Amino acid sequence: MSIKTFGVIGAGQMGNGIAQVAAVSGLDVIMNDIKTEFVEKGKANIEKNLSRNVEKGRMTGEEANAVLSRIKTSIVLTDLKGADFVVEAATENEKLKLKIFQDLDEICPSQVILATNTSSIPIGRIAGATARPELVIGMHFMNPVPVMKLVEVIKGLATSQETFKTTWDLSLKFGKTPAEANDFPGFIANRILMPMINEAVFCLYQNVGTCEDIDTVMKLGMNHPMGPLALADLIGLDTCLAIMETLYDGFKDSKYRPCPLLRKYVETGWLGKKSGRGFYQYN
Ligand code: CAA
Repeated sequence: MSIKTFGVIGAGQMGNGIAQVAAVSGLDVIMNDIKTEFVEKGKANIEKNLSRNVEKGRMTGEEANAVLSRIKTSIVLTDLKGADFVVEAATENEKLKLKIFQDLDEICPSQVILATNTSSIPIGRIAGATARPELVIGMHFMNPVPVMKLVEVIKGLATSQETFKTTWDLSLKFGKTPAEANDFPGFIANRILMPMINEAVFCLYQNVGTCEDIDTVMKLGMNHPMGPLALADLIGLDTCLAIMETLYDGFKDSKYRPCPLLRKYVETGWLGKKSGRGFYQYN
């Protein structure tokens, strides 16, 4: 299947990163969100990343301009009718994602693959919102998308081998290394990562250590590039909580219960880097 135009739903931290890597790989990109200010902010972030690449000599100014010119912004979902492959990277909210997939199923030609960047919602459930479950797949990028090498490619029960192969090859085209996972709550990445982050929040909650000490232990003791609490702030505490809820609901196992302190932070609007305050404070 030839893919020339790539659609991204969501221009937030994941969506604009995905749009960037797709455009750098040579595809025309439609980056969609619900408000002009969201798509403009997403595009400004891409411009900032590309300028840095030019400064660092990784690409020329002309190449950066060419990449930018391949990214069209959109605030109307029907613009996606021209896309050959769509990845949804909207907020991690099941109701919202199901509605987007229902709409995309009506808008996009019947052969178009509809991928989701969900971090934990079952692929089968999302596929069930469409009349093309064999063309629905998980394409899970890591944050920050331009830097992180992994794409977790998740097959739902009904996902066809052809859909899987196309998504796998597209990940390679984006310069990423794909890894295959099956459709269980949290897949591989978040099944392992999120309980670690949640446990770090429990350590803070029970005053086992301060934020700084918890992060120092994991950074210097385990060689993690950043501590779990700083990483939670980067991911977004609302997303971390949503993933823990999915693991807890999916397995009905108390070991996945979200730490009450994590919930309290989210309820207070302390969502991490994006809101200016999480476990740490940001300017
Ligand atoms: N966007 C684009 N580029 C970024 C970036 C961003 N948001 N953040 C950092 N970078 C770039 C920097 O510009 C820098 O590039 P240069 O080579 O041009 O200097 C490079 O990355 C390294 O950054 P820094 O020197 O500032 O800092 P660092 O060496 O500590 O790296 C990091 C930063 C890449 C974020 C690193 O700390 C790291 O790998 N952290 C762990 C990230 C991680 O675990 N991500 C997965 C989260 S889980 C997830 O995403 C899935 C989910 O479903 C929740």
